[in-house]
Amino acid sequence: MTIYLNGQFMPIEEARIPVLDRGFIFGDGVYEVIPVYSRFAFRLAEHLKRLQFSLDGIRLANPHSDQEWTKLITELIGRNTAEDQYLYLHITRGVAKRDHAFPNPSVQPTVFMMSNPLLTPPTALLTSGVGAVSAPDNRWLRCDIKAISLLPNVLLRQMAIDAGCAETILIRDDDFMTEGAASNIFLVKNGVLLAPPKDNLMLPGITYDVLLEIAAANSIPHEIRRIAKDEIFNADELLLTSSTKEVLAITTLDNKPVGDGKPGVMFTKLHKLYQDYKRDVMRKT
Ligand code: PDD
Repeated sequence: MTIYLNGQFMPIEEARIPVLDRGFIFGDGVYEVIPVYSRFAFRLAEHLKRLQFSLDGIRLANPHSDQEWTKLITELIGRNTAEDQYLYLHITRGVAKRDHAFPNPSVQPTVFMMSNPLLTPPTALLTSGVGAVSAPDNRWLRCDIKAISLLPNVLLRQMAIDAGCAETILIRDDDFMTEGAASNIFLVKNGVLLAPPKDNLMLPGITYDVLLEIAAANSIPHEIRRIAKDEIFNADELLLTSSTKEVLAITTLDNKPVGDGKPGVMFTKLHKLYQDYKRDVMRKT
């Protein structure tokens, strides 16, 4: 695998960063995950916009213009073999003596990118759906920043894995649903697709936007509003979205079936529309 590190392309085995990198010491950085279909970076402008938002959120200057990013990303895609890739982009505040305060004067940020083959969920998972557990959302109040400091998310996701499930649905203040440990969550009730509002308590997912755009374009009733904790336990359907998982049905929550325990009509419809959209819009051919 060829990666990009601070101006150079190289095999991943040769990539090195100093131990005093603030990403390593403090988790002081931000990242993006961009799906690549038929060697075409999907929604690149939106991902770069969110990257800028995250950088602004941690007060780190963007090391590249959108044009430069596009050039680097295109080159990295070209240097890797898979048609569909999962591109990971990571920027830290750079290498400096350990001190919580920002380095003064500032230092060069560390810029790292890698691209792996993108493996979207297999048919078996699409037909069975996945299990989820619920847990209190104990993260900070800036979940809208795509920060590399993911320890809460790591621990929350592991709760699902330990329970033989795929995702943890997060409940803020014992009151309302925010998102998953590494995905956005939608609810379906009486034929209406419900999505929580984008605020500081959730990551503004690129796939979340795609799903809502698809719903609007196909006259699927949908509403953006806070989703109460009780509602998720009485949902007809629960859906999960992310760049790597696309859209998946959640068919059990805390070991109990969601709706009838099978992927529902809304999932089937949205998944098909998502694949159509991918074929028609995301791919060049
Ligand atoms: N995670 N919420 C969280 C906390 C996430 O980590 C992610 C994605 C999403 C979905 O965002 P998007 O649709 O833009 O992928 C929501 C990525 C895939 C990851 O960390 O690997």
